[in-house]
Amino acid sequence: MKVLIIGGGGREHALAWKIQQNEEVSSIYAIPGNAGLSQLAKNFSIDLTDISGLATFTEDKKIDLTIVGPELPLSLGIVNEFQQRGLAVFGPTREGSKIEWSKSFAKKLMKENNIPTAGFETFSDPLEAKKYIRDLGRPSAVKADGLAAGKGVLICPQVEDALQAIDLIMAQKAFGQAGEHIIIEELLQGEEVSFLAFTDGDTILPMSSAQDHKPIFHNDKGPNTGGMGAYSPASLISEKMHQKIMDNIMIPMVEGMARLGIHYQGVLYAGLMIHNDEPMVLEFNARLGDPETQPILMRLETDLIHIMLKTLQKKLHQVSLNWRQGASTCVVLASEGYPGPYPKGREILGLKEAAQISETVVFHAGTAKKEDKIVTAGGRVLGVTAVGDSIAASIDRAYAAVNKIHFDGMYYRKDIGQRALCRPV
Ligand code: AMP
Ligand code: GLY
Repeated sequence: MKVLIIGGGGREHALAWKIQQNEEVSSIYAIPGNAGLSQLAKNFSIDLTDISGLATFTEDKKIDLTIVGPELPLSLGIVNEFQQRGLAVFGPTREGSKIEWSKSFAKKLMKENNIPTAGFETFSDPLEAKKYIRDLGRPSAVKADGLAAGKGVLICPQVEDALQAIDLIMAQKAFGQAGEHIIIEELLQGEEVSFLAFTDGDTILPMSSAQDHKPIFHNDKGPNTGGMGAYSPASLISEKMHQKIMDNIMIPMVEGMARLGIHYQGVLYAGLMIHNDEPMVLEFNARLGDPETQPILMRLETDLIHIMLKTLQKKLHQVSLNWRQGASTCVVLASEGYPGPYPKGREILGLKEAAQISETVVFHAGTAKKEDKIVTAGGRVLGVTAVGDSIAASIDRAYAAVNKIHFDGMYYRKDIGQRALCRPV
């Protein structure tokens, strides 16, 4: 069986690491891949917006299954194109992925289906938006409606911040077309959790929960990033909370989409804020999270290809997920300057030594090969991920591996998983 993975981050390296454990998988291709993926897969370079080119490549190579990592090709209809050509592809269609590429669509769906989320209004006129903010007079989150690489949300404690955010998005067009419409939301308090599930449009199979660490600095300070680390399971999610999330959020969302004619297939990711034991949706994503995928897949014992093929056959009800007991932790090593501009091409040392630590995998994100060296090539460079019998054991292992790795300007958070450690059990 030949499998193609679309993407080149830590999430995609983790996908390749997991699926190569299936004996039926004879070869893996990655577009564009990274230096880590090149050890498991053949990397090819095709622009991820060239949907027709990607489909033709898949036909030429006689790929049996394509797995789409990032949101951009989903939003451009990669799944629609592949399905039209009779190619097996895991992920939602353009219509399904609209829950991620249009925040206003997602919010409207949530409202119609009584899914708990922050109160909001949508605007296309900056003057109206500003009037609303002045009348509101409370802290808010101002969001560009479209895809903005995780940067389109501005947290505004003061009215003045919100007025500036509206200008940044709508007048200065900081996120281009994504900011033609904006959402203004009430600001929620609480703790964030990522809740992901496989779904074939009928059955919803929840994964083990995870907690991301979005801000760049320790203690959740500084600007948001794609995610500086994650652990799984998120101990905040009790069994009761898990059921509440399924009943009040995941099931109504999939059913709500079905009523619109969208038979959602792939991964449904709910970014949640938990406050006073109540989960509220911050956002939906139409894909696996990065870095959540790394710790989640390291604990998933069930074969991933099996899950994905059953999803495509609409037979997910035949699958149950098994998880390794204990916990896993992923610490992201980033380039200095990230999430702003950062240098590239710095040699990475210590990868072999880190890999010798048991139950630890160093997933590559922004890495490249240069002659016989592996060098930095992105903001998030590596995701050092370890499993342990407890969250503490997995944290210790992950940081022991981190200590073996070095590149100039290497930056990481030292508090990944600390919230879980501090929580009373
Ligand atoms: P989103 O892409 O909509 O999930 O937003 C990115 C990040 O902004 C979230 O992970 C939260 O940290 C924060 N955020 C978004 N919406 C809100 C809100 N209504 N209240 C508080 N924080 C928010
Ligand atoms: N880690 C957040 C995301 O994948 O959107």
